Amino acid sequence: MIQSRILLTAVVIIIVIWLQTKTTSSTASQELALTRRKTALLIIDVQNDFSQPPPNGSLSVPGGLEIIPKINHLRNNFPFDFVVFSQDWHRPGHPSFYSAHPDAKKSGIKLFEKIQIHGRDQVLWPDHCQWDSYGAQFHPDLDYRSGDFVVQKGNRDADSYSAFMDNDHEYPTPLHAELQWREITHIVIVGLALDFCVGNTALDAKELGYQVTVVLDLTRPVYREEGDAMVKQMQGKHVRVMQSVDQIM
Ligand SMILES: *[C@@H]1O[C@H](CO)[C@@H](O)[C@H](O)[C@H]1NC(C)=O
Ligand SMILES: [Zn+2]
Repeated sequence: MIQSRILLTAVVIIIVIWLQTKTTSSTASQELALTRRKTALLIIDVQNDFSQPPPNGSLSVPGGLEIIPKINHLRNNFPFDFVVFSQDWHRPGHPSFYSAHPDAKKSGIKLFEKIQIHGRDQVLWPDHCQWDSYGAQFHPDLDYRSGDFVVQKGNRDADSYSAFMDNDHEYPTPLHAELQWREITHIVIVGLALDFCVGNTALDAKELGYQVTVVLDLTRPVYREEGDAMVKQMQGKHVRVMQSVDQIM
């Protein structure tokens, strides 16, 4: 009699443990569903000024045109949950323009050289991507669709290489909030230029907690050595740097 009671108790304990395991594992799979991988494609600054050969592009990145069909191919063959285009978007006379600093010119500073603004380096660029100009428009071959999200940057006094915030790290763009609302966990970054806007966007994205991939064959640097240095910096921060799209498709 006592023996069968012990047996019954043991059976009940086993059933209770089994039920608990079952509940725990179903909670775990629910959590997994909540943090499902959601991937956004970020296409950085593929605008006329950066991608068209001179004189049509005022700040033409070498090889900028080559990446456009590859970017279109990627968006058409990978099931992205969301596609974002960043757009460099400067007011006339923006402080990142060489033409806005006649005093620097008088003191011998040249185009593409640096001066200090707000205590940090600022490259002095040719006028580019001014509001509503031809140069600011996306390249006409780029597969842009209604429903894609456009984030404009560099409209304030500080320049903005990153699509997430200005170079002084004072003013965030709406991009992070938009990605969070859409529960994006992974970001693939392509576009122009590797050593400036692509690289800084990737570093900020990583800092904000996303899993970040940059595809080298779908971006081009302004300067080769600075592009190489940016790749090392990104890898040091655990951004996944891939040679080609074959590795993600
Ligand atoms: C510049 O744009 C014009 C007008 O669209 C075009 O005819 C010309 O071929 C372009 N130049 C280059 C170098 O792409
Ligand atoms: Zn700019």
